[in-house]
Amino acid sequence: MEGLSLSEPALKAQFSQRVLIKTILSRPDGGAGLAGQTVKIGGWVKTGRKANKDEFAFLEVNDGSCPANLQLVSTGACVHVEGKLDVPPEGKNKQKIELKVEKVLDVGPVDPSKYPIPKTKLTLEFLRDHVHLRARTNTIASIARIRDELAYATHTFFRKHGFRYVHTPIISTSDCEGAGEMFQVTTLFSDTEKLDKELIANPPPSQADLEAASVLVKEKGGVVAQLKSAKASKSEISAAVSELTKAKEIFSKLEERSKLKPGIPKKDGKVDYSQDFFARQAFLTVSGQLQVETYACALSSVYTFGPTFRAEHSHTSRHLAEFWMVEPEIAFADLEDDMRCAEAYVKFMCQWLLDNCLDDMKFMVEKYDKGAIDRLKMVASTDFVRLSYTEAKVFENKVEWGIDLASEHERYLTEVKFKSPVIVYNYPKGIKAFYMKVNPDNKTVAAMDVLVPKVGELIGGSQREERYEVIKERISEMGLPLDPYQWYLDLRRFGTVKHSGFGLGFERMILFATGLENIRDVIPFPRYPGRADL
Ligand code: 4AD
Ligand code: MG
Repeated sequence: MEGLSLSEPALKAQFSQRVLIKTILSRPDGGAGLAGQTVKIGGWVKTGRKANKDEFAFLEVNDGSCPANLQLVSTGACVHVEGKLDVPPEGKNKQKIELKVEKVLDVGPVDPSKYPIPKTKLTLEFLRDHVHLRARTNTIASIARIRDELAYATHTFFRKHGFRYVHTPIISTSDCEGAGEMFQVTTLFSDTEKLDKELIANPPPSQADLEAASVLVKEKGGVVAQLKSAKASKSEISAAVSELTKAKEIFSKLEERSKLKPGIPKKDGKVDYSQDFFARQAFLTVSGQLQVETYACALSSVYTFGPTFRAEHSHTSRHLAEFWMVEPEIAFADLEDDMRCAEAYVKFMCQWLLDNCLDDMKFMVEKYDKGAIDRLKMVASTDFVRLSYTEAKVFENKVEWGIDLASEHERYLTEVKFKSPVIVYNYPKGIKAFYMKVNPDNKTVAAMDVLVPKVGELIGGSQREERYEVIKERISEMGLPLDPYQWYLDLRRFGTVKHSGFGLGFERMILFATGLENIRDVIPFPRYPGRADL
């Protein structure tokens, strides 16, 4: 509210007649300078109490624009009201301003005995069973604002550094990570169900029906030939021709229907995907990387930011089946540039929350994680530690080179050993995806993971293999078919360029910022094995 003089009115919400509570309460004077103004406010009643022997009631109303509530003095439980802003009488009041209700504009009543999220303190687990109402709680509303700020910070950061935002497809026919953890997109089941039902209601023609129709075509053909040789009149011939055409149509329709078979279409014992919606197998994307690379190899610095899907059956507090990923891709950049970009981006987001979302961060500190703000400050101002995979392994008990770091070990490195974000780079090629650049040692690839306290792996990225022969070899080595990747190989065939990128798990960033424990609480509508509400 910088630059707002105390006599200025509270700002009206855009596209609405009411005033946002934030514009009243977040002024430096807590709203006191607005005393005397008439405003309309709308929101949901958080708590209320009667006073002066039921003569009037105080209601604490929240409209989601900020964590704080506005106190209303009213004789009834109202949600859309008009009244005068007033300085409350001196006393135990912590409010600097309150609203004396003059007019109740609208009421959305609630039957308290039936309302699933009453005033009492509710657990986050309980709220997961009420995702359609949980945004009305202080915690979920706060997370929603932090999430929104981080999304805005993301676009701001990349725009500031000359990146273009590219929308990569959600339906994909390539497996980016080569791990096969993909959800299939198909209409074969619903099409088959529909057809099976239809064939029962309306059975296909029998062989006898077909033969009868074919006989009819021959007969009608015979009539036409006869009329022609008898030099019959034009109108007689054309009438016979039109009957022949009709008979042919009936026959071909019957013939087509006789070919319909119940069940999923098969060819050579396998599902026949040529009959599917896209005439091939299709999936929900696990990452927009491969597609965004096509734009990086044309527009130079690009990023994609969208939902990604993984059919992993992991029930951990760090995995979702649907999550959002931010994936920059930079042409003419190597692993070193990639790491610098990742570090700058994470720092920018931390500073952004400190500058733009402090009230919500204070709420998180008070309710969930005492260290949340200090952690943001630490990350915003500390250089990330860099360790090669081989160096990182030294700090692990089982020093077996060639297997992935255990997630507990990742957290040990960042939370205990270095107490700062850690970038681990140059992983063994055997545990990483096919597209990563093979290092001169021929044992490791130019990969990097950014590890942060509370979360462990926040970012995974790499320099991409730009040498045609090498990447072709890698695809085969991994047992992947070459054909679906021909378009990807074209990027190396035609004007290949050194390039690098990474993917940041957006929900993991929110976990890191808020200090919450479970990733299911930082996405509005969590999807995980067995659950996809709404
Ligand atoms: O490390 P990942 O698998 O990397 C990629 O997908 C690359 N194609 C990215 C790129 O280079 N453009 O995933 C990237 C990040 C992880 O570090 C993690 O933060 C997050 O995505 N992530 C998940 N977040 C929530 N639920 C899951 N199931 C996740 N899987 C990965
Ligand atoms: Mg990874």
